[in-house]
Amino acid sequence: MKVASRTFTTLTVYAALAACAGCTHAPGYPKPGDEVLRPDKELDFQVLYKQNCSGCHGDDGRNGGALPLNNPAYLAVAGADNIRAATTRGVGATLMPGFARSAGGMLTEQQIDALVRGMLHTWARPSEFAGVNLPPYSGSAPGNAADGQKAYAVACARCHGADGTGVKNPAQRGASPHSIVDPSYLALVNNQCLRSIVIAGHPGEDAPDWRSYIASSGARPLTAQEINDIVTWIAEHRASAGDQASNNLPGRATGLAGKEAK
Ligand code: HEC
Ligand code: HEC
Repeated sequence: MKVASRTFTTLTVYAALAACAGCTHAPGYPKPGDEVLRPDKELDFQVLYKQNCSGCHGDDGRNGGALPLNNPAYLAVAGADNIRAATTRGVGATLMPGFARSAGGMLTEQQIDALVRGMLHTWARPSEFAGVNLPPYSGSAPGNAADGQKAYAVACARCHGADGTGVKNPAQRGASPHSIVDPSYLALVNNQCLRSIVIAGHPGEDAPDWRSYIASSGARPLTAQEINDIVTWIAEHRASAGDQASNNLPGRATGLAGKEAK
């Protein structure tokens, strides 16, 4: 038997107590009629999110180590199907586990559905994106790294540095001091995650989304091709590091812990 959540453990203890006649009226034991919700019957979004997701994606879907889920731009571009697929099966080559029982997780299909609907209901703002030309969630064509580097220089370098290693001047508003080309960071995210971040930005951290990176003269959204190319350029730093060992789990775990601690 798997014991993976605190509620489940408590329930197991109750079950063990119930098996022992005479213990059933011990102090603190629920009397007949007290409701104890079986963990697989829990369908409340807030409870499910807090128990299963907030540790990595942050309380309220922000400021965790992993991609912010409370981001209307992300939710609009990903849509229910992609969010459900990631929650069900997990995200390959990252710390994101699959939550469905079919993937070794603890959640029923109904619970995953409650999470997907809850995230969209609570955090999406569909009216803000009505009529907006959304970039595709996943890249169809392989990108071109050389073109990506050029697009990066125009759209990203002011906040992430000319070479992606970060901007160390704390006075520059909105700039990030962290490297986005460091192999230990890149070991934590697969290309789809990079793509989601490039499209949807980091809300609340002065990081814009795909519509507003090119802000000064000639302001325009990034094209789908530029998004592909930029992700390809960033991802190339994985290969050029030539270090498969950086893709192993301990490296990732350390990276995520570091991000959570910041
Ligand atoms: C152990 C940490 C961890 C937990 C727990 C976790 N996630 Fe994730 N999740 C990740 C990581 C890491 C990624 C991919 C890397 C990134 O984008 O930061 C990710 C990615 C995702 C994505 C895909 C993002 C994309 O690019 O489209 C979704 C959707 C998601 N998580 C939903 C959830 C939901 C819902 C829960 C709770 C049921 C959950 N996650 C629990 C770590 C976690
Ligand atoms: C206005 C400033 C700004 C611009 C422009 C910008 N970013 Fe960011 N970006 C940020 C900030 C701030 C963060 C938050 C991460 C952090 O803690 O440093 C971030 C986070 C990221 C991350 C996740 C890093 C992590 O450690 O989780 C990636 C990847 C990224 N940006 C890529 C890009 C790319 C690619 C572009 C250009 C298409 C871009 N950014 C444009 C400010 C910006």
